[in-house]
Amino acid sequence: MINIRKYQEKDKELLRDICIKTSRLPIETEDQRKYLTLMYNDYYTEVEGRNCFVAVDENDVAVGYILCAENFARYSKIFRKFYLPEIKKLGMNYYFMAIGEMAAHLLYSKKYPAHLHIDILDVCQGQGVGTRLMNELKNHLKSKNVPALMLSCGGDNTMAVKFYKKNSFKVVKNLAGSYIMGIDL
Ligand SMILES: CC(C)(COP(=O)(O)OP(=O)(O)OC[C@H]1O[C@@H](n2cnc3c(N)ncnc32)[C@H](O)[C@@H]1OP(=O)(O)O)[C@@H](O)C(=O)NCCC(=O)NCCS
Repeated sequence: MINIRKYQEKDKELLRDICIKTSRLPIETEDQRKYLTLMYNDYYTEVEGRNCFVAVDENDVAVGYILCAENFARYSKIFRKFYLPEIKKLGMNYYFMAIGEMAAHLLYSKKYPAHLHIDILDVCQGQGVGTRLMNELKNHLKSKNVPALMLSCGGDNTMAVKFYKKNSFKVVKNLAGSYIMGIDL
């Protein structure tokens, strides 16, 4: 039995593990691990935990998450100041990957101020958990009058693209094989 609840501080390390385990990139080094968690976890859980939801098992152990930054301008300001410098320390290749992803979001952030990341452990995929997390986040953002939500996703991640389309996201732009997808709330 999987429940959906708000993020709690105790979830932080488990969410980092889920981020690593569900990555489509091979994670072989500590730097790769650090990059993924800096890029896709830490800002959201540390700064916007109130906008994050977690899927937990019957022992209240996290098996998946949806993390959200509500406003891109605010995210960008804080991320550039505190998180991007840490990514830069890992190497310029990581730095440019991060900048590239941020730039892609920036292009569409006026229409879609919020963005998300979602990951669910293999054993819990395909059972509606992602859809429940997505609905929880959409309702939460609607209650805060956030007008629209976006994400970026590898166009070759066909399962995820299918999932987002099923959850009413549209492809806004195909940027060299990476999709920007968005939804009006
Ligand atoms: C993508 C992801 C978040 C979807 O969550 P989920 O709980 O597995 O999805 P749901 O069970 O709610 O499925 C909803 C729809 O998504 C699609 N989908 C989900 N799992 C699928 C699978 N294994 N194969 C094909 N389509 C799938 C289907 O269209 C499904 O609808 P249907 O059951 O009526 O066919 C989850 O599978 C995941 O974390 N994957 C690995 C990490 C990842 O790719 N994250 C996104 C990075 S951009």
